[in-house]
Amino acid sequence: MGKYKIKIGIIAGCGLDKSFKEDLTYFSKIEREDATNEYGLPSSSLYTGTISGVDVVLLIRHGSGYKVSATDVNYRANIEAFRVVGCTHILATTACGSLVKLFSKEQLVIPDSFIDRTVHRKGTFYDGTSKYYSGICNLPMEPSFDPHTSQIVENAAKKLEISIKKGATIVAIEGPRFSSKAESYMFRQWGGHLINMTTCPEVFLAKEAGILYTSIAMVTDYDCGSDDIADNVHPVDVFNVFKRNINKIKSVLIQTIELISQEDWDQRIDDLKVFYIDLVKSSVT
Ligand code: ADE
Repeated sequence: MGKYKIKIGIIAGCGLDKSFKEDLTYFSKIEREDATNEYGLPSSSLYTGTISGVDVVLLIRHGSGYKVSATDVNYRANIEAFRVVGCTHILATTACGSLVKLFSKEQLVIPDSFIDRTVHRKGTFYDGTSKYYSGICNLPMEPSFDPHTSQIVENAAKKLEISIKKGATIVAIEGPRFSSKAESYMFRQWGGHLINMTTCPEVFLAKEAGILYTSIAMVTDYDCGSDDIADNVHPVDVFNVFKRNINKIKSVLIQTIELISQEDWDQRIDDLKVFYIDLVKSSVT
C-alpha cells in the first residue's frame, strides 16, 4: 500500500443518489450535522462504504430530494467534508447541456477546462478565516481537472464499451435560470462545449483542498439549440435523460473506482498537496 490510503468521494447529481443507495450497501452514514465543518453544513449526509474493497464516500450535491439550488449549494462545506474524512479523489457527476454538435444527447463527456460564469458563490478556502487554509493561494488552473483520474475514467468506460469523450470546456452559469439564446450563442463563440451550473467552484475548491478531482458529465440537452439543431432545454428533459442513463454512469463509476485502486497515487497526491499547493503558498510569503 502507498503512503496515502485511497478514499473516493462521489458527488451525486440529479437523482444518482437514489440509485446508489438502492444498489450499494453502505456501512455507515455520517449525519449531515456531524459532517458540519468550519464552512457549514454540507448538502447531505455522507454515505460511507466500500466498492470493490475501496473506501467510498457519497454526497448528494443538491441534498436529498433535490432541495438545494446550484447557487445555494455550500460547495466549500461539501469539499471540506470530503477532505476531513480523508478523500484522495472526487468523482463528480453532472447533467449538462451541449453547445456543439460533437456532443450529442446522452453522451458522456469528461471536461478538461471551464469558463466560470458564476457570481454568487464563495470560490476559495483562502479567505483569511481558516487555520487550515492559511495565507494566500493563487492556484494555477491548468490542469483544472486531474488528468490522470480523467484518463482512468475514460479507460473504465472503454473497458465497459460505453461511449465517452474526453476533453471539453464546460461553462458554469449561475442559474437558476437557463441561458438566453444570445448567451448560449456567445458561450459557443467563446469556445464552450458544455454548460452546467455546478462545476464552478467545485473543481477549484477540490484543487485547493488537495483532492484529485474529475467530472463525468452527461449531455441532457442542447441548451438553446443552434442553426442546425432545433432544441430548447427543459428541466423535465434534463432529469429524464439523466435518469435514463444512470446505470451507465454508475457502471463507469464502479469500474473507475476499481481501476483507481490498482494505481499508485502517492506521487500525484504529493504533487498536488506538497509541491503544488505548498509551493504556491510559500511563493507569496
Ligand atoms: N444542466 C443541464 N443542462 C443545462 C443547461 N442547458 N444549462 C445549464 N445547466 C444545465
